[in-house]
Amino acid sequence: MNILILGSGGREHALSWKVAQSPLLSNLYVAPGNAGTAHVGTNIDLSVSDFEGIANFCTENKVDIVVVGPEVPLVEGIHDFFDENEKTKNIHVIGPKKMGAQLEGSKKFSKEFMQRHEIPTAKYQAFTPQTLSQGLEFLETLSPPFVLKADGLAAGKGVVIPTNLEEAKSELTEMLANSKFGAASQEVVIEEFLDGIELSVFILTDGKSYKVLPTAKDYKRIGEGDKGLNTGGMGAVSPVPFADTAFLQKVEERIIAPSIEGLRKDNIEFVGFLFIGLMKVGNDPYVIEYNVRMGDPETEVVIPRIDSDLVEVFQAVGNKSLDTIDLKVSDKSVCTVMAVSGGYPESYEKSKEIIGLETITDSIPFHAGTTSKDGNIVTNGGRVIAMSSFGATKKEALEKSYASLTKIKFDKMYYRTDIGFDLE
Ligand code: AMP
Ligand code: GLY
Repeated sequence: MNILILGSGGREHALSWKVAQSPLLSNLYVAPGNAGTAHVGTNIDLSVSDFEGIANFCTENKVDIVVVGPEVPLVEGIHDFFDENEKTKNIHVIGPKKMGAQLEGSKKFSKEFMQRHEIPTAKYQAFTPQTLSQGLEFLETLSPPFVLKADGLAAGKGVVIPTNLEEAKSELTEMLANSKFGAASQEVVIEEFLDGIELSVFILTDGKSYKVLPTAKDYKRIGEGDKGLNTGGMGAVSPVPFADTAFLQKVEERIIAPSIEGLRKDNIEFVGFLFIGLMKVGNDPYVIEYNVRMGDPETEVVIPRIDSDLVEVFQAVGNKSLDTIDLKVSDKSVCTVMAVSGGYPESYEKSKEIIGLETITDSIPFHAGTTSKDGNIVTNGGRVIAMSSFGATKKEALEKSYASLTKIKFDKMYYRTDIGFDLE
């Protein structure tokens, strides 16, 4: 099997690391990849949005499976592009077509989907620049905090949660009248605030059957105690201790099964990962959002816990025979702690040399934002290294990640010292 993974973050390094362990693998390519993926595969200098270039590469190199890491190429229709071209239509793309990708690409689409299929989620209404005044009136009927979501993709920044009415009104006006998030905020969903604790579940589906992957919880804020600006994710743990069997049964019955069935009823052929962001309110699960890909840094804790051969699993997804696979999951805990560039998630410098990676023995340093320069590994993004570790317990896994982080350094390196702080 020849496999191409699209993307350049910690998620793609974790997927590459796992795929590279398969005896079924012949060649692994990653586009564009990073200094970590270069260790387990061959980096290809192609942008994830260059469909023509990717398709040509795949035919020239006899790629069998393309695994799409980030959401943008999915929302832009890479799977449709492959299916519509004679020379690429037999290549399996792991990731939904444009229609299914709308579950992430449009908040309004996903809210309507949940409503149609009676999947528990926060109550909502959607507004456009033409209905701004109704939106402002609607805010007056709600109690704080207010949840405002730009409809389209806004690189993880499109959700704003003001705590007072004045702020909420001015945010709504900024988003709708002044295009705060560009085209993404031409429509805004206002929804009820859900008060609870968050976690994520991940599904892999071939469109007919599905496998539930390990649960994970990520830590999105830059500061200790979950304070400060939102980031892509500062760390993650798997499994999630409060997601016990009874709770997960509710998730499967009320959310996962109706989501898969809903896609079928709506004639949306969905192949790939479905990431369901959940809020546990009391003992009941509600959907906060769908993503049509794996999470980052959740992948860096979920994928290491999968004992099955991932290439075999991807092959079964492509052949629509996922029901024949017995997905094996490790009982161990895996945690990851993200080392980031000083200043992130605001402005930060790049090209800082990373020292000590070769001394790590008790953890897996997944590269999130790195590149090679003059024979050295240097920083190339806000999130730099996701230090993942296995442990018999969450505590043991976290201790290993923190011990390993003391062995690496780069100028202005920062990480949170409290990942997992709110659990048990
Ligand atoms: P999203 O981009 O939809 O994941 O939203 C970003 C973050 O906003 C989520 O991770 C939650 O922490 C928070 N959030 C989104 N929707 C709600 C809601 N209805 N109630 C409470 N918090 C929310
Ligand atoms: N860690 C959240 C995400 O990947 O969207």
